[in-house]
Amino acid sequence: MPRFQDFALPHWIESQKGIEIPLGGSVGPGLSFKELINLSTDPESTTKALNFYDTDLTVRVGTQGSLELRKQVAKLYAGSDVTVTPDDVIIANATTGANLLSFQSQLSPGDHVICMYPCYEPLFQIPKQLGASITYWRLDPSNNWEASLADLKALIRPTTKMLVVNNPHNPTGTLLSASAQQAILHLAARHDITVHSDEIFRPLFHATDTPAPPSLLQHASYDKVIVTGSLSKAFCLSAVRIGWCVTRNPELKASLLSLRQWTLESTSLIDERIAAEALSDRCRDPILARLHAFAHRNLAELHAFLAKNPHAVAATVPTGGATAFVKFMDPASGRPVDDLQFCQTLMEHTGVLLSPASLCFSQLQPGDFKGYTRLHFTCRTEIFKQGLDRIGEFLSSPSYTALCAGSQTNGTH
Ligand SMILES: Cc1ncc(COP(=O)(O)O)c(C=O)c1O
Repeated sequence: MPRFQDFALPHWIESQKGIEIPLGGSVGPGLSFKELINLSTDPESTTKALNFYDTDLTVRVGTQGSLELRKQVAKLYAGSDVTVTPDDVIIANATTGANLLSFQSQLSPGDHVICMYPCYEPLFQIPKQLGASITYWRLDPSNNWEASLADLKALIRPTTKMLVVNNPHNPTGTLLSASAQQAILHLAARHDITVHSDEIFRPLFHATDTPAPPSLLQHASYDKVIVTGSLSKAFCLSAVRIGWCVTRNPELKASLLSLRQWTLESTSLIDERIAAEALSDRCRDPILARLHAFAHRNLAELHAFLAKNPHAVAATVPTGGATAFVKFMDPASGRPVDDLQFCQTLMEHTGVLLSPASLCFSQLQPGDFKGYTRLHFTCRTEIFKQGLDRIGEFLSSPSYTALCAGSQTNGTH
């Protein structure tokens, strides 16, 4: 088997020196035990739940994860006609482990997989590494990164085994509406395709005037769906390596569980207890409200920033998730800058870190998302605002003018 190539996004972030304003990632402000207890509506019970002194550290949490945690995860998918039970939930090592479990248990060499594009890289690199052939389902930048169902239909082959979606979407911060989800499931049902939906950013929804869209799990019409998620993004606990696969389909569940026994056996008892407490009725909503407040304020800042720089910056303002896909252009010509060079020069001059699309999100051709960068917006508002201020100053500096001139002579658009 060929060696994995480097995973470009963390490689980019980890290779940067002197970061002052980190806006290249997607993890919100973390929580300590103390902060979790302070956020809880019942601090005494949370303190008790997080006291591990007398815990027996030989206890494993079962072949599927503890019932207590699976109950809490199932509740995240309540509120539709479809009932999701603790029995449908399989606990894994964060979303990374849940995605791996799904891909490894379902895919074989020669299978065809369709994946949204752009996308978080492991969602197509892991299937590729497992021997699947990948077709990219391009989202349309001229239509707010909407996914075209007609395009999807044309990509399906007799060997198509799996469709991979990410909803809310990283990096664009867009969502699949309930009707788009239904149409996807209708196509999948017609061609017997398993839908893998990475929903790690759920329930980070930002529109205040429209109802939150359902999970791909919450449609009675089709059950060959595996949804994955974890505590890493919406719940700000990315070092607690707990995630989940959820499926209502008995065959999918059996194959996930069988592989889990071989490759994982048991998740960490301590991590599971922290996760169950974070998702409990006393902690879940306060954690989400804290992050939504940051997102709400920061999106208002992003709106103002876009309005102030209409000729140099463009973006679809996110309706979900934690990141925006922001395009930088030469204000004189409207042509996109070289985004890698932009991010490098921005870092050197301002200490603000963004993630360049041509390095971290382009797979088909290097110029696919020229000018685009990923900007994280669920961080603390003072940091976000300072980052935008510094980017704004950079855009009016001679260094940016020189970079724009260089971008036009170097490469594709
Ligand atoms: C779409 C997506 N899936 C999975 C992951 C990995 O998450 P975890 O930390 O839960 O393994 C990330 C991390 O950024 C992500 O953006």
